[in-house]
Amino acid sequence: MNSNVKFDREASAQEAERQAAFIERGKLLVSALSRELGRKPRACTVTFGCQMNAKDSEKIAGILRETGYELTQDEDADFVIYNTCTVRDNADQRVFGRLGRISHYKKKNPKMKIALCGCMMQEAQNVEKIRTSYRYVDLVFGTHNLYRFPEYLCGLLEEDHRIFEIWNSTDRIVETLPSERKYSYKSGVNIMFGCDNFCTYCIVPYVRGRERSREPADILREVERLAGEGVTEIMLLGQNVNSYGKDLAVPCTFAELLAEVARTPGIRRVRFMTPHPKDFSDELIETIRDYPNIARHVHLPLQSGNTGTLKRMNRHYTKEQYIRLAEKIRREIPDVSITADIIVGFPGETKEEAMDTVDVVRTLCLDNAYTFVYSKRQGTPAASMPDPVSEAEKKETFDLVLSAVQECARIRSEALTGRIMEGLVEEINGQNERYVTARLSNNMLVHVPGDASMIGQYYNIRLTECRGFYFFGEIVAA
Ligand code: 5AD
Ligand code: SF4
Repeated sequence: MNSNVKFDREASAQEAERQAAFIERGKLLVSALSRELGRKPRACTVTFGCQMNAKDSEKIAGILRETGYELTQDEDADFVIYNTCTVRDNADQRVFGRLGRISHYKKKNPKMKIALCGCMMQEAQNVEKIRTSYRYVDLVFGTHNLYRFPEYLCGLLEEDHRIFEIWNSTDRIVETLPSERKYSYKSGVNIMFGCDNFCTYCIVPYVRGRERSREPADILREVERLAGEGVTEIMLLGQNVNSYGKDLAVPCTFAELLAEVARTPGIRRVRFMTPHPKDFSDELIETIRDYPNIARHVHLPLQSGNTGTLKRMNRHYTKEQYIRLAEKIRREIPDVSITADIIVGFPGETKEEAMDTVDVVRTLCLDNAYTFVYSKRQGTPAASMPDPVSEAEKKETFDLVLSAVQECARIRSEALTGRIMEGLVEEINGQNERYVTARLSNNMLVHVPGDASMIGQYYNIRLTECRGFYFFGEIVAA
């Protein structure tokens, strides 16, 4: 399905200018607030959910920093914004739980502003709940109007009333506002927004809207700018990257875009998230194969291994087609790792059917998989499907799938023991500060002795000890 949404570049440029003017006004307002407080005001962004949300939070943080806020991780701040996720119910619940806790900070600091944005805000029942039961929330906006954040921020600082603004869709792409990168050496880059697939369990098409691709020239300009700032690893982001470019005036395939990004000087690694198995082209496989700086990792959501369930999920592939595709990818791209998302407990899926999922995991010996329990999302077709399977049975199935995943992850990892592979050091190890954690091209993590000076650098690493799905290793001379 393809929406053919055309976005208006001129209007987007004007909107970017308008918001840039609000940033200038915001600077004056924040500096007045600083004088009042006798210090720089502090802002905290909290992100729930996926990489797209993480990227959106960088934009929000960039605007806050630009207007004069000091960024902090501490929610006892002058401005707190939760960028929410609604893909599964537990993410929703976590937001409400956390909101309750920060209300105490606001009692202490009445000038504190609390904002909510992201996917949960595209659902009317959540917005209503906040409007009536969380009256201390000052600002609510959704996924389509995030680029208006400078305007909303000024509104909050100038006038003491709540702002609720949710749009059902947008035809604009505004990507030129400031952004605060979390990492100096890697960055996500949005290539498209929205999803047209309507998998029956999934809320994303309802909260992120129809597919809209960014122009390749705009994407490449952003990648070049990032490379100029020292970024060496790029993650191209979209809900279904295989649909990229179909809605552009001059169509461009995802594989073509990927190759262009891989050719950008200074870019040593390119990743992408997420392709859909139904339209993973040979051209894409060949592109990954032919560009060694495209990561040896394909995240290929399986969801279920049962053809009947896949049909009811509206996934457009069968068990056999998924297996054949994964085998082809492994055949063409040596050393590739294939990981998946799996949903257990989809309405009506029997234990016997779910064993097909275990079978696919084992047949392919998947490198890893995120396994989720199905979560009913109001308004999706699956929410009204009959679901006679008991929770206890679902729990049993979940454990079976999870142990198959873990077993395969171990087998695939162990097979690499002793190999020397290139790793990009990402951070100090959370458990032992005399170690750093590096990511291999295939997305596996390896911990090596080291210090902060190594962050952002590439090293050849011998994988000495496998610990399930990660390694301990040692750096070998280049
Ligand atoms: N319940 C459980 N998991 C879901 N996902 C998406 N929607 C649901 C749902 N309603 C999972 C899918 C998707 C990943 C991002 O989240 O596996 O690939
Ligand atoms: Fe959701 Fe399916 Fe779109 Fe992924 S492809 S965002 S699972 S509807």
